[in-house]
Order: sequence, then structure tokens, then C-alpha cells
Amino acid sequence: MDLLKQRIRTDGLILNNSLLKVDSFLNQQIDPALMLKIGEEFVNRFKGETITKILTIESSGIAVSVMTGLILKVPVIFARKRKPKVTSDDVYTAKVYSYTKGESNNIMISKQFLHQDDSVLIIDDFLANGEAAAGLADIVKQAQAKVVGIGIVIEKSFQPGAQKLAQAGYRVESLARIKSFANGQVEFL
Ligand code: G4P
Ligand code: NA
Ligand code: NA
Repeated sequence: MDLLKQRIRTDGLILNNSLLKVDSFLNQQIDPALMLKIGEEFVNRFKGETITKILTIESSGIAVSVMTGLILKVPVIFARKRKPKVTSDDVYTAKVYSYTKGESNNIMISKQFLHQDDSVLIIDDFLANGEAAAGLADIVKQAQAKVVGIGIVIEKSFQPGAQKLAQAGYRVESLARIKSFANGQVEFL
């Protein structure tokens, strides 16, 4: 997706040769027009598939997921990383280890929002080691629903997540695929 790649080139900052800071349009300040374009692109990539729900994880996956759900006219569910005070105990959980943060979270979704007859598109902002997406896919499986595919805004292709998810049989559509951060420059695949 050229518009997104351009934006990463102009506004992205590379930290420690491995992290891309995109706080000005995705991770803190959000550019709604770009989010809508990203939603349209996800809808395009998965055209022809039956999708009944979008599943993401708080917080940065929510904006693009809502845009996608708005176009498809389907609900958007986001997994929580810690248990909210007001939630039922009837939850699906999955353990997600974050290499970036060096900690594990038990992500959770109330059982009432995912059913056996759902066809779920999983969406997230970044794909690095694939832990978050794999945890979301695991929750879909627990609900005996179907994973249609995984839509990612920015894939760091030099980390193992994309390959791991493909090997597990999931269709992964990433809108920007980063090959490397060599010489302080973002190089796309
Ligand atoms: P994984 O799910 O692919 O295994 O990724 P990892 O544990 O490494 O990522 C942990 C958090 O860091 C995730 O956000 C993920 O989106 C984010 N992340 C990973 N690599 C990058 C990067 O290069 N740049 C930025 N900006 N974020 C990255 P999170 O903790 O769930 O936070 P949020 O969704 O609330 O923003
Ligand atoms: Na995320
Ligand atoms: Na993030």
C-alpha cells in the first residue's frame, strides 16, 4: 500500500535498529483519513471472503479495525490485556508473550462475543514475532469459529511472525512489509 509506505518513510522513526516509531499517525496520534484507507485496503484484500466479525487487541489495532468493520458492517471485538472490573468470568484467554516488553499478558475476550458460526478477520497494527496474532487465533479456535485471515498494517518481515503464521496455515495480508532498517532507512520488501 503505497500511501502507507510513503507515510512510514516521511513520519516513521527508527529506534535501536529494530523498532519503528509511528506515533504521529498510528500509535498515539491517529490519522483518521489514513485509517479509513487502511480499512478499505483490508476489505479489498479479503474481498470474496465471508467475514462476520473483526477481532483485534487493545489498543493500537482498534482504529484500523473499526474502519474495516464500518465498511463491512460487522462488529469489531478487541481482546483486553488485563481483566476489566466489569466483565463476566466467562472468557476465552490466551497467553501472549511480548518480546518487545519482556512480559506475558493473558489476553481475554468474553465468550458472548464469539460463536461457532463466526468467520473472523484478525487485524493488528504490527506483526513482529506473531505472538499477539497467534493468541487471537487461538481464542477464535477455542470458540470453534473460523479464522478467515490476518490483516496487518506493518509487518517487520525480518522477525519470525509472518512466517510462523503462514506455516500454521493462516493467510496473512500485510499492507507494508519491512525488510530491514539498514543504515537508518526503512527498506520495504
Ligand atoms: P508480536 O505480537 O508480533 O509478537 O509483537 P511483540 O510482542 O514484539 O509486540 C509487543 C507490542 O509492541 C505490540 O504492541 C506491538 O504492536 C508493538 N510493536 C512491535 N514491534 C513494533 C515496532 O517496530 N514499532 C511499534 N510502534 N510497535 C511495535 P502493544 O504492546 O500491544 O501496544 P499497543 O497495541 O497498545 O500499542
Ligand atoms: Na498491537
Ligand atoms: Na502496538
